[in-house]
Amino acid sequence: MKKSLILVLVFLATMFVIAGCELEEMAETPAVSTPAPTPAPQPAPVVMSLSSLELTNKITAEWKTSDKVFAITDPAGRGIGCAKCHDGYGFSMFKTFDPAVAGAPAYAPKHATGIDCQACHTGQGKELMESGSVKLLFMDQPLQAGKSAMCLSCHNSNRNPKDLAAQFKAGTLTQMTYPHYGMQGAVYTGKGGMEIPGVTLPSSPMHSQIQCSNCHMPTTEEGYKSHSFKADVEKIDKTCGTCHTGITSFDHKGFRSEMNYMLGKLKKATMAKAGASDLTYGSGRFTFHDAKGAAIDMKMIPFEAYVGAYNWRLIALDGSLGIHNPQYSKAIVKETYKFVTGEELK
Ligand code: HEC
Ligand code: HEC
Ligand code: HEC
Ligand code: HEC
Ligand code: HEC
Repeated sequence: MKKSLILVLVFLATMFVIAGCELEEMAETPAVSTPAPTPAPQPAPVVMSLSSLELTNKITAEWKTSDKVFAITDPAGRGIGCAKCHDGYGFSMFKTFDPAVAGAPAYAPKHATGIDCQACHTGQGKELMESGSVKLLFMDQPLQAGKSAMCLSCHNSNRNPKDLAAQFKAGTLTQMTYPHYGMQGAVYTGKGGMEIPGVTLPSSPMHSQIQCSNCHMPTTEEGYKSHSFKADVEKIDKTCGTCHTGITSFDHKGFRSEMNYMLGKLKKATMAKAGASDLTYGSGRFTFHDAKGAAIDMKMIPFEAYVGAYNWRLIALDGSLGIHNPQYSKAIVKETYKFVTGEELK
């Protein structure tokens, strides 16, 4: 058999497996109080006309346009605790250097490595995609997330807000720790925000089941998963359009504009609750400032203002303005506002 034919056959087989997985994942979706969405029409398998080298070249060129090419040197150089998400080698080889394992060698690479092909396609990255199971600090049980388990193991906020809230209330928290950058998984799962006493928040049953790659790596004309990792509005037909027929903007039905407005209100209310003129963040912690710009002692900050700041940052900085989980994002902002002010957000 000719090599190109073998490639085509392998590709077709892969497409059926992928299509099968997607259907299976959607079938697990609980259709809680939502109009049953029309199952996404599966795109007809595209016959790959590229040689494997052409495919590698195209994927590499796309990858090079992403921020994943370079490691952010400071966190990548600070040991395995940061390198497990900030260094491609540290991530793929994490099990070798896991400090929790007795006798593990010290992690001391000669240089930093970006999030490259080996990071996602070998070692821990590959294992996570195969098992689909990922442990997240804010969930008691490992989450089953398909291939997204790999993305989620880095993009998850790296915090357990339940512990932070308990420590704040007990007066043992030494700084007002914020959700770490890359908090997409905390929003996507609808589980990573700081709890509001007595409130159970809803979660979008459909959005929280869509694979990260569906929106961030849509299949190209040539039939492979794109690797720029950007949620590109030019591809909206392939990403959002499979469920939202005729959608033209990520600001679908003005949802993101509304989120933006509500986030502004929440930030203002949070500062007012703390008697502050400004709220800043850096070095892992929030700081409230008085009218003269001086930092307000954290002992003077009411618990409601900490919850306000935490949940504000979670939604304001995740980069999707609510799209990663529309119902959860809207509800957490509204309910946090109510907790902070005692009034409805209008
Ligand atoms: C090893 C950890 C790690 C994994 C795994 C990972 N990311 Fe990232 N990602 C990062 C870091 C770190 C950045 C920030 C890079 C920077 O700013 O230099 C980032 C940036 C991004 C960005 C911002 C834009 C850009 O140009 O890169 C997107 C979008 C993104 N990742 C999506 C994903 C998706 C989707 C997956 C799974 C297919 C994924 N990431 C897997 C660590 C990771
Ligand atoms: C659980 C994974 C994870 C761990 C552990 C982690 N980070 Fe990050 N961090 C990320 C992701 C993902 C981003 C990128 C977010 C984005 O751009 O969307 C990020 C972004 C950052 C940024 C912002 C970079 C910028 O310029 O925007 C800094 C600074 C940073 N991390 C420092 C650290 C330090 C220091 C440590 C160790 C103490 C650490 N991180 C541990 C996942 C992690
Ligand atoms: C329903 C589609 C969808 C899914 C599923 C999805 N995203 Fe996104 N994501 C978006 C959109 C839309 C944006 C905003 C892009 C923009 O405004 O240009 C975004 C933004 C982001 C950003 C910020 C990009 C930046 O440049 O600042 C990161 C990082 C990211 N997503 C990671 C993830 C990860 C990790 C997952 C899986 C846990 C995921 N996304 C799942 C649609 C999605
Ligand atoms: C941030 C993680 C990440 C990085 C970095 C990454 N990939 Fe991928 N790659 C994925 C995911 C996720 C898939 C889709 C897997 C699936 O759905 O089966 C994929 C799929 C592929 C495929 C199969 C394409 C298809 O659609 O049949 C190839 C080939 C590939 N990657 C090559 C590369 C190469 C080469 C690099 C480095 C230049 C690279 N990848 C970097 C996450 C990554
Ligand atoms: C797999 C199907 C599916 C995909 C793909 C999808 N959505 Fe949705 N979306 C839904 C469903 C179902 C709802 C209503 C229930 C919910 O919130 O989960 C919804 C709700 C929304 C909402 C809240 C407002 C409303 O109409 O209820 C917005 C905004 C939204 N989606 C935007 C997007 C954007 C933007 C994308 C692509 C980046 C996207 N969706 C991709 C199925 C999908």
